[in-house]
Amino acid sequence: MKRAARIERLPAYLFAELDRKVAARRAAGVDVISLGIGDPDLPSPPHVVEALAEAARDPSTHRYPSYYGLPAFREAIAGFYERRFGVGLDPDTEVLPLIGSKEGLAHLSFALIDRGDRALVPDPGYPVYAISTALAGGEAVPIPLTAERGFLPDLAALEVPSGTSLLWLGYPSNPTGAVADLACFEEAVALARRHDLLLCHDAAYSEITFDGYVAPSVLEVPGAKDVAVEFGSLSKTYNMTGWRIGYVVGRPEAIEALGTLKTNLDSGIFEAVQRAGVAALTGPQDHVQAMREVYRRRRDAVVAAFVEAGIQVKPPLGSIYVWVPVPPGRTSQVFAEELLDRVGVVVAPGTGYGAHGEGFVRVSLTVADDRLAEAMRRIRAVLGAEDPVRA
Ligand SMILES: Cc1ncc(COP(=O)(O)O)c(C=O)c1O
Repeated sequence: MKRAARIERLPAYLFAELDRKVAARRAAGVDVISLGIGDPDLPSPPHVVEALAEAARDPSTHRYPSYYGLPAFREAIAGFYERRFGVGLDPDTEVLPLIGSKEGLAHLSFALIDRGDRALVPDPGYPVYAISTALAGGEAVPIPLTAERGFLPDLAALEVPSGTSLLWLGYPSNPTGAVADLACFEEAVALARRHDLLLCHDAAYSEITFDGYVAPSVLEVPGAKDVAVEFGSLSKTYNMTGWRIGYVVGRPEAIEALGTLKTNLDSGIFEAVQRAGVAALTGPQDHVQAMREVYRRRRDAVVAAFVEAGIQVKPPLGSIYVWVPVPPGRTSQVFAEELLDRVGVVVAPGTGYGAHGEGFVRVSLTVADDRLAEAMRRIRAVLGAEDPVRA
């Protein structure tokens, strides 16, 4: 069978070898603890599950959903933007439901990138921005993000190569946990306007923040809707990764182009899931605060363990990850393999998120407290803070 060139051109999947090793260690009876994946361990809120069950019993939800999403779900998203950010959205032209935000992030490139076009992408960053650019025939140009600048882009110094049409950013950041303030978004909107770019902001972790920090929306910048879209997700805010429901909001022409592509590719989100999405966005939000508290506690435990082991880690103000410098003398991948081989703990090598991820690993906070504590005990042993243990 011949594989399409675009598949052949995909970069080697860094996690594939790690996955293979994890499977081998498990088969050998090792109690592997994975801090490699950002998939919440906490359940979806009961009232959201109830809304799904009730909707699933209504046969009218069993048919093809409407292409552009249930009006009630689009209105719920607009209502969330009004309440949370003070941003007004037209639910018909400025809101589009997605089958999980990843679906829309990837398809946007196919709606807007032609062969040879360029997109600026954060490095390190969520890999979908660069991969979808490449799959659509374009070129992803990395925006280097460094610890010295708090993993924020130096937009004043950023060169915008010819043929660039998209600028991707995502805060709170996967993988670094960095957060951006409104001034950063103002600069990004101004840059997008100057260079006629679409600013694409990924706000998947906007509600997972700590220590009193509240994440802004790009759309809070006056006039941003002329040049920006923002992606959101119910996955992390409501522990709904398996349900596949998210959205994109903002610049109507971009929403329209993505919608046109999607009507030719997919048939929307199960209506029962959309009704549950309405319950999530419009119902009680107390569980979101409780979830923040769980991640805050885990974040503090992870940061404290690394600091005790002599690795300086700053507690991130957002996301479900801690971005940890690797000890001297190792690469990200070598350190990740060392943790798996010696103590059965999986972390994600920073280079899985771009070349500038070298020197870091990403630790996910989505495992139960006792397993996280055990994982940190094992990691500390490798770092020499305790007697070595074997998993
Ligand atoms: C930064 C970021 N954006 C988007 C997504 C995709 O989320 P979903 O497709 O579940 O909405 C993820 C998932 O891990 C992510 O980390």
